[in-house]
Amino acid sequence: MISPVLILFSSFLCHVAIAGRTCPKPDDLPFSTVVPLKTFYEPGEEITYSCKPGYVSRGGMRKFICPLTGLWPINTLKCTPRVCPFAGILENGAVRYTTFEYPNTISFSCNTGFYLNGADSAKCTEEGKWSPELPVCAPIICPPPSIPTFATLRVYKPSAGNNSLYRDTAVFECLPQHAMFGNDTITCTTHGNWTKLPECRASCKVPVKKATVVYQGERVKIQEKFKNGMLHGDKVSFFCKNKEKKCSYTEDAQCIDGTIEVPKCFKEHSSLAFWKTDASDVKPC
Ligand SMILES: *[C@@H]1O[C@H](CO)[C@@H](O)[C@H](O)[C@H]1NC(C)=O
Ligand SMILES: *[C@@H]1O[C@H](CO)[C@@H](O)[C@H](O)[C@H]1NC(C)=O
Ligand SMILES: *[C@@H]1O[C@H](CO)[C@@H](O)[C@H](O)[C@H]1NC(C)=O
Repeated sequence: MISPVLILFSSFLCHVAIAGRTCPKPDDLPFSTVVPLKTFYEPGEEITYSCKPGYVSRGGMRKFICPLTGLWPINTLKCTPRVCPFAGILENGAVRYTTFEYPNTISFSCNTGFYLNGADSAKCTEEGKWSPELPVCAPIICPPPSIPTFATLRVYKPSAGNNSLYRDTAVFECLPQHAMFGNDTITCTTHGNWTKLPECRASCKVPVKKATVVYQGERVKIQEKFKNGMLHGDKVSFFCKNKEKKCSYTEDAQCIDGTIEVPKCFKEHSSLAFWKTDASDVKPC
C-alpha cells in the first residue's frame, strides 16, 4: 500500500527536477573556499565563497543561489594575499624580499661592524603581521680589554660609552725590564671580543760581569750584546774548561721569566787575572 503523502512528495520532487537543472560543482576561485561544497546543487541552494586564511576579498559577490538555468553566475570575487607592513629597509643592513605579502618570508643581514639583534628572517603571517618581529642591526662592541700582567695600555680610547666598536684597536706596552710576546696591538673582532692579548715576561739582568758566549751561533760578549738585559726566552751558551783534557765545551743557559742560571762549570776570571786563558779561547774538546 502506498501512502498518499509519499505520492504527493514524489510528484513534488519530479516537479522541481523538471522545473530546473541542477548546478555543477562551482568553479575553483584562487585562495578561496566554498561552503557547502558538493558535486551538484538543486536550484535554490545557496553557496558562500570565503577567502582562505591570509587572503582578503577585494569586492565581488560572495553568496550565490543556484538558478533554475543550472548555471552559476559569473563570479567576480577576488581573494588577494594580505600585505604585511613595509619592511624593505633595515638600518645598517639589508633586506632580501620579493613581496611583503602572505605567505612570503624575507631575510635580513647586517653591514660589517653590526650584528643582527633578532631573527635573520621573518614571515608574513595570515594576520598580516611579521613573525617573529623585525630585527635591528646593532653595532658590535667589545668590552674594555683585560690587561696582561707586566703591561699597561698605551693607546686605548673607548668609542661606545665604556666599550669599543668593531675594528677599534688598543695598544699595550710592557713595564720596564719586560719583554712582549705576541702582538702589542689588539683589535675588536666581529665576535665582540678582542684578538689575542700579548704576553709580557720579565727580562733577565746579565748574570755575569763579562763573558764570551755563543748566541744564535755567534760568539758575542754577553755584557755588550745584552747591556739592556736579556729577554725572556733568550738562550746563550757559556764556555767551560775541561781541566784534565785541557779543552773547552759549552753549556746552555736561558732567561726564563726574569731568571737565568749560569752553568756551574763556568768560571768567571777577575779582570786582573790577565794571565789566565779564558775557556772560550781554549780549543774545543
Ligand atoms: C662606564 O663605567 C662606569 C663605571 O663602571 C659607570 O659608572 C658609567 O655609567 C659607565 N658609562 C657608560 C656610558 O656606560
Ligand atoms: C698586529 O696586529 C695588527 C692589528 O691587528 C696587524 O695589523 C699587524 O699586522 C699585527 N702585527 C704582527 C707582527 O702580527
Ligand atoms: C672570540 O670569540 C669567538 C667566538 O665565540 C671565539 O671563537 C674566539 O676564540 C674568541 N677569541 C678570543 C681571542 O678569545
